[in-house]
Amino acid sequence: MTQKITVIRGDGIGPEIMDATLHVLEVLGAGLAYEEADAGLVALEKHGELLPQATLDSIKRNGIALKSPLTTPVGEGFSSINVALRRHFDLYANVRPAKSFPNTKSRFPTGVDLITVRENTEGAYIGEGQSISEDGETALLTQKITRKGSERIVRYAFELARATGRKKVTVVHKANILKTTSGLFLKVAREVAALYPEIECNEMIVDNTCMQLVMRPEQFDIIVTTNLFGDIISDLCAGLVGGLGLAPGANIGKDAAIFEAVHGSAPDIAGKGIANPCALLLGAAQMLDHIGQPQNAERLRKAIVATLEAKDSLTPDLGGTGNTMSFAQAIASRV
Ligand code: NAI
Ligand code: MG
Repeated sequence: MTQKITVIRGDGIGPEIMDATLHVLEVLGAGLAYEEADAGLVALEKHGELLPQATLDSIKRNGIALKSPLTTPVGEGFSSINVALRRHFDLYANVRPAKSFPNTKSRFPTGVDLITVRENTEGAYIGEGQSISEDGETALLTQKITRKGSERIVRYAFELARATGRKKVTVVHKANILKTTSGLFLKVAREVAALYPEIECNEMIVDNTCMQLVMRPEQFDIIVTTNLFGDIISDLCAGLVGGLGLAPGANIGKDAAIFEAVHGSAPDIAGKGIANPCALLLGAAQMLDHIGQPQNAERLRKAIVATLEAKDSLTPDLGGTGNTMSFAQAIASRV
């Protein structure tokens, strides 16, 4: 049966990188059917809302979405459409691979191949208990960590290690200071780790982790951590391997999953046809893995690496003179 996915073309450079990505998927022969749905500014203009019910229904129906970046209008009282989507579908695992690629302006052109697994629903992001005193002198924030939330994310990390043949999971925490929240996360992580004796597990405090990532990133394989630490660490990792144009992310829940680029809608280059499509393409590769097409995922990743190696039609952010479509065609010719 043909797998149907929801396609959200998004704002800014979104439609350009989505066209490029769908072209490569077509050549790859992934055999997907697409259901287009609107979100973001485009949806606001067409339907009067940023996240229409029809879009939520489409994702619910198909269970899989490939999403371009969305512009969140400033001062509309809507914190983030992405956060709203994650919450609505309980997409508890944010999975962000960071891998060295050739011919990028990276500090680590080789040696980095790690995945950050970030808890995506609790911690400092619950949006509860935020208050500021009447005199404006004292601000409070409530963080929430649960056994259920910790257990499912750590399990996800170990299952991912098992499924991908990775050897080590590093549990990143700050339990020495945040004794209750990070303490509970660490306690549960140790319990879960004991169920996977074949996979090495180590623990690392978050500040040291940041230094270690910059000094010796090759020591990491899979990192699992709570929401805020994962947010920061995964951006740090994207920076290690050459920045936003190459960083994909998956948001995975029990009943739905959304695959995307980590970067935003890049209004400064929108409409110029020069956006780098690789981040969304790598997001599409994560999607292919997820829907049971690991061979196609691997073909796609190899074609991206080969195109970077050949410096064929690279976009300006990678120092080339190509454009979004010529880059995508160069990749498609190598799948
Ligand atoms: P941005 O990621 O859109 O842009 C930052 C810089 O990176 C810009 O100079 C841009 O030109 C460049 N860039 C980003 N993607 C690129 C690509 N594929 N190829 C070449 N260059 C690229 O971040 P910014 O400017 O902070 O945000 C713009 C809008 O995007 C905002 O409305 C923000 O809310 C939204 N956003 C949406 C996200 C999502 O939907 N997942 C994530 C981050 C931001
Ligand atoms: Mg972030």
